[in-house]
Amino acid sequence: MEIGRGAEAVITCDGETVQKSRPAKSYRQPQLDQRIRTERTLREARITSEARRLGVTTPIIRDVSRFDLKMEKIEGEKLKDVISPHLSRMVGEMVGKLHRGGIIHGDLTTSNMIFCRDRICLIDFGLSYYEKTVEAQGVDVHVYFQTLESTHDRPGELMEAFADGYIKTNPQAEAVLQRVKEIKARGRYL
Ligand SMILES: Nc1ncnc2c1ncn2[C@@H]1O[C@H](COP(=O)(O)OP(=O)(O)O)[C@@H](O)[C@H]1O
Ligand SMILES: [Mg+2]
Repeated sequence: MEIGRGAEAVITCDGETVQKSRPAKSYRQPQLDQRIRTERTLREARITSEARRLGVTTPIIRDVSRFDLKMEKIEGEKLKDVISPHLSRMVGEMVGKLHRGGIIHGDLTTSNMIFCRDRICLIDFGLSYYEKTVEAQGVDVHVYFQTLESTHDRPGELMEAFADGYIKTNPQAEAVLQRVKEIKARGRYL
């Protein structure tokens, strides 16, 4: 059963397993297309598991081939639909752990988080990478703040709650949150 289709992936579900496939994109040169699809698939498999070892809840990866990933199905609500200050604080703690461990997610939206059994499960690591700079972490947080601003009421209190959680788990949180303000200002004046 197909349960989702994004810009580049098709998500199907079979019992307790979700398959994420990256079909060919005809607008890309074929060799380049294959390279991108394989790279994102392997990257997603590797970093989803790596994040889990850092204490971030992610789906268990069950199988990976060149263009397809099989993983544990997470039953729950998209965070987008249930976000609250309490949950945004949990997001902050989770993202702080990820950043402290050297991982940048690359697409931190509330559509890539599922609330399940009192935990937030982070998915969609296809654009993630290893980096520990304040700038990379700042851009990651900036993307999350932008989703809050564009899709949720009262983003201010959700951002403050995020910061409270983030400060607990990322030792360079203060510098990152300062950088997020600068990134926002940059965006406005570019
Ligand atoms: N492991 C999973 N368990 C449950 N639902 C999932 C899982 N992986 C993806 N989904 C659902 O499919 C949607 C798209 O998956 P995602 O990995 O975010 O792909 P895309 O790159 O297309 O955004 C998610 O927003 C979520 O609703
Ligand atoms: Mg997604």
